[in-house]
Amino acid sequence: MTMSAVTLAVVLLCVLGSYVFYALLLTFHPASVSDSLVPSSIELAWVMVTLVLALLIAIYVATRLSRRILPPLDSVAMSLRQLAEGDLSARASTDGRALHEAAQLVHDFNTMAQRLQRMAQERAFWNAAIAHELRTPVTILSGRLQGLSDGVFEPSRDMLASLQTQVEGLSRLIDDLRVLGLQESGHLRLHLEHTRLAGEIRSVALAVGPALQAAGLELTLELAEQPVLCDPMRIRQALLALLENAMQHASPGPVCVSHRVRHGVCMVRVQDSGPGVDAELVPRIFDAFQRGEAARARGGAGGTGLGLAVVQAIAQAHGGQARCLPAAQGGTAFELSWPA
Ligand SMILES: Nc1ncnc2c1ncn2[C@@H]1O[C@H](COP(=O)(O)OP(=O)(O)O)[C@@H](O)[C@H]1O
Ligand SMILES: [Mg+2]
Repeated sequence: MTMSAVTLAVVLLCVLGSYVFYALLLTFHPASVSDSLVPSSIELAWVMVTLVLALLIAIYVATRLSRRILPPLDSVAMSLRQLAEGDLSARASTDGRALHEAAQLVHDFNTMAQRLQRMAQERAFWNAAIAHELRTPVTILSGRLQGLSDGVFEPSRDMLASLQTQVEGLSRLIDDLRVLGLQESGHLRLHLEHTRLAGEIRSVALAVGPALQAAGLELTLELAEQPVLCDPMRIRQALLALLENAMQHASPGPVCVSHRVRHGVCMVRVQDSGPGVDAELVPRIFDAFQRGEAARARGGAGGTGLGLAVVQAIAQAHGGQARCLPAAQGGTAFELSWPA
C-alpha cells in the first residue's frame, strides 16, 4: 500500500512535472528546448531536480515506514532470544503506531509464548501432583514392609489386606494417568461395538449396589433399551467413577442413573441429591487433580482428583463431552454424551 503510494507520487512528479516544465519552457524560453536527443543544460537540470525530489520522497517514506516496522520486530527478536534462554515470561511489545502486519506478528508471538508458559506450568503442576499422590501409599507400604521384615509387626491377614489396598490405589492411579496420557496424545483406542447399554449399566449397578446402599444411597435406573455404538468397557469405567463420586461426595438420598438416545446423541447421566459441587470448582471440575474443599480435607480417602478427568477423557474419545449440571433439589448431575 505504502509502496504503491510512493510509486504513484514519483510517477505523478515525473509526468505532471515534465508537462508543466515544458509548458513553461515553451512559453517563456522556447529556444532552450533541445531539438536533438542530447538534452540542453536546463533540461538536464530539470532531470536532476526530479531525481533528487523522487529520492527525497522515497527516503522520507521508507524512514517513516521502518519506524512502524522495526521496533515491533526488534521486540519480537529480543523476546525470542529470552524465550530460547528459558525465560518463558518474555513478551514482545508494540505501540499504536506499528504497522498492522507487525502488530499481528507481535500478537501471535505473545499468544505462542503464553501457551508455552502455560504448558510448562501445567507440566510442573502435574509432576508435583503425581509425586504428591504417590508419596502417601509408597510411604505407608515401605513403613509396613520395613516393620514386617524387622519383626516389629506380625504378618496378619488384616495387615496384608491393608497393604493390598495401598497397592490397588497405586495401580488405579497408574491406570488413570495412563488413560489421561493416551487421550491427550490422541492414542486412547476404543473398542467400539453396538452395545445395549442398559444391560451394561444394570451390571454396574448390581456390582456397586451393596456399597451404594451402605452409603445410604437409593439407586434408581431409567434406561433406554436401544443399542448404541460405544466402548462398553470404557463407559462402565466412567459410570463406576461417577457412582463412586456419589458415594464419596454426595449425601444419603436417591441417586438416579439414566440413559437415553435422542436426535442421534447418546446420553448417560448420574444424578444425586446434594450437596452439590462448590461453585468455584465447577469450571475446572473435569481438570486433573482438582478436588473440592471437603474432599481435600479428607486427604487420601477423598480420592486423587483424577476420576472426573478420566470420565471426560472417555467422553472425548467417543467424540462427545462430559458436563456437570446443577440438578433439582440442590444435587448434581454428571452427564456423558456422544454421537450415537
Ligand atoms: N457427586 C458429587 N457431588 C459433589 N461433589 C462432587 C461430586 N462428584 C465430584 N465432586 C467434586 O469434584 C471433585 C473431583 O472429583 P474426582 O475427579 O472424581 O476426584 P476425587 O473423587 O478423586 O476427589 C471432588 O473432589 C468433589 O469435590
Ligand atoms: Mg472421584
